[in-house]
Amino acid sequence: MKQNIAEIKKEIMGSAPEEMLMLLEKRFSGKVAFSTSLGVEDQVLTHMIAKAGLPVKIFTLDTGRLFQESYDLMDITWKKYRIDIEIYFPDALDVEKMVNEKGINLFYESMDNRKQCCYIRKVEPLTRALTGMDLWISGLRHEQSQNRSRLEFVEWDEVHKILKVYPLLDWTKDQVWEYIRIYKIPYNTLHDKGFASIGCLPCTRAILPGEEERAGRWWWEQNDTKECGLHETKRT
Ligand code: ADX
Ligand code: SF4
Repeated sequence: MKQNIAEIKKEIMGSAPEEMLMLLEKRFSGKVAFSTSLGVEDQVLTHMIAKAGLPVKIFTLDTGRLFQESYDLMDITWKKYRIDIEIYFPDALDVEKMVNEKGINLFYESMDNRKQCCYIRKVEPLTRALTGMDLWISGLRHEQSQNRSRLEFVEWDEVHKILKVYPLLDWTKDQVWEYIRIYKIPYNTLHDKGFASIGCLPCTRAILPGEEERAGRWWWEQNDTKECGLHETKRT
């Protein structure tokens, strides 16, 4: 798999995201998974996959701490496109143990606690969702952060031993929103209240004018590589 990166890049580079998705589905038939957080990029990809009727496994990770607006959008999207969005939950015993030992809002106490919570509520369920799949589609974009500006369209995720593709990697925020408006794609109403990037409720705030897109995520942390662990690919 890892060895095929150059070949896959050659096959898909220069294609529009819709075509990219079709080519990938054809090549990895039945083994393509798309993780959606219901963010605007993911809503664009969901629309493309649904409109083309691609048999891609679409899944979301319900951490148990999402906004009500995100659950409403999940419901609206599911009904509009008539697609299955598989919902993965964290292991109940792991969550129980963690919050009983460290508190219900442990993430504010330290970076280690925050990473533990993200691991239990997001990374472990992701690992289960990707089991048996050969290709993982995700909505990351270069513009979102300095960390993400280094990503390539096709990557090998050494942690999950899976190929990863970001069809919207070079899209700008404006391009994403234009697509949302043209095709009347449902989006999270929190975006109209100043939220840019949306994750769990206790760990997301709206951003101020001039702030970076991801400034509202884990806003109390100072580092510039704010990630939850889903995309720590340990590139080789
Ligand atoms: S992250 O920090 O939460 O990982 P972001 O919200 O920018 O980042 O999402 C980036 C990508 O990670 C999404 O396009 C999606 O593929 C994946 N992702 C993030 N959160 C979830 C989630 N709750 N369920 C499924 N996929 C997710
Ligand atoms: Fe836990 Fe916050 Fe990570 Fe959600 S974003 S899994 S609540 S630490």
